[in-house]
Amino acid sequence: MKSFAQKHQKIAKVIWNKPESHADFRIGLTCSSVYENALPGQFVTLHLPGNMTPLLRRPFSIHRLIKENKHVIGIEILYKVVGGFTEKLTRAITGDPIDLLGPIGNGFTVSKKFKKIALVGGGIGIAPLVFLADAITENGVCLSDSIACLGGRTSDDILCKSVFKSFDLTIRTTTDDGSEGEQGLVTRPLEKWITSHRPDMVYACGPMPMLRAVADIANKNELPCEISIETIMACGLGACLGCAVNKNKTTGKYQHVCIDGPVFDAKTHIF
Ligand SMILES: Cc1cc2nc3c(=O)[nH]c(=O)nc-3n(C[C@H](O)[C@H](O)[C@H](O)COP(=O)(O)OP(=O)(O)OC[C@H]3O[C@@H](n4cnc5c(N)ncnc54)[C@H](O)[C@@H]3O)c2cc1C
Ligand code: FES
Repeated sequence: MKSFAQKHQKIAKVIWNKPESHADFRIGLTCSSVYENALPGQFVTLHLPGNMTPLLRRPFSIHRLIKENKHVIGIEILYKVVGGFTEKLTRAITGDPIDLLGPIGNGFTVSKKFKKIALVGGGIGIAPLVFLADAITENGVCLSDSIACLGGRTSDDILCKSVFKSFDLTIRTTTDDGSEGEQGLVTRPLEKWITSHRPDMVYACGPMPMLRAVADIANKNELPCEISIETIMACGLGACLGCAVNKNKTTGKYQHVCIDGPVFDAKTHIF
């Protein structure tokens, strides 16, 4: 019998690869029909064929699905250039092969029950929230009573603002240096919004301190909340246990981002 990796690993082709901001790129990759069932929040791992460094595959969220005649023909990844792999990836051109493994992990819960939604994204953590907004609207929920709180260090980190605008939701931006939106933490507009528009669901992805703060706010306000964690990973398949995060409150067991996540319930997971 074929293993998960054997079934889900393919050599994809670069459709396009273009800069998004000074340190962020957007790449389109061909994919198999397996991605018809991909869930927002799931991720893929990539390797550049023929490259010995870095040896380990690198994880990236699915940012969007690329569709033709309603069929998924590719995936988009939004990536920040931070080191060896992402720097090499910027040089990939149309037609280049990329070793693609996925979709991996669980996804965010998408339900018609959640009419008023708060999306909270910090930095490159904004990436999976666009696929999530696509999936919510495709599921028949209009986002006009919802909010996207987007935070970053500077205005360059506030990605996908125009995409979120197209969903007709309220957008609040914050930056550490005040170069875009309100100066301060992205949790501030979230807290304000909660007091006037109690959301049915809070979804968040971003740096760990932000996720802890969002989980805390949601739990104090007794709001359902799902959080996607982006840890450093090695195997991405549950074999090395290198992606361990805190325990689950109910089971008392350590959680591993690649097999138990990357999406965790703010109520049961200790952030
Ligand atoms: C489930 C998941 C989804 C992800 N989705 C995305 C995405 O959509 N877009 C994107 O740009 N990145 C995403 N990441 C992070 C991405 O995997 C790393 O940025 C990438 O592996 C860096 O590889 P590199 O060789 O370029 O840098 P490296 O040389 O490996 O690292 C450069 C620096 O970045 C730090 N770093 C590496 N990985 C992470 C991480 N996960 N969190 C914080 N710091 C890190 C390292 O400690 C080091 O300081 C995701 C990670 C996970 C686990
Ligand atoms: S990265 Fe190896 S177990 Fe998760």
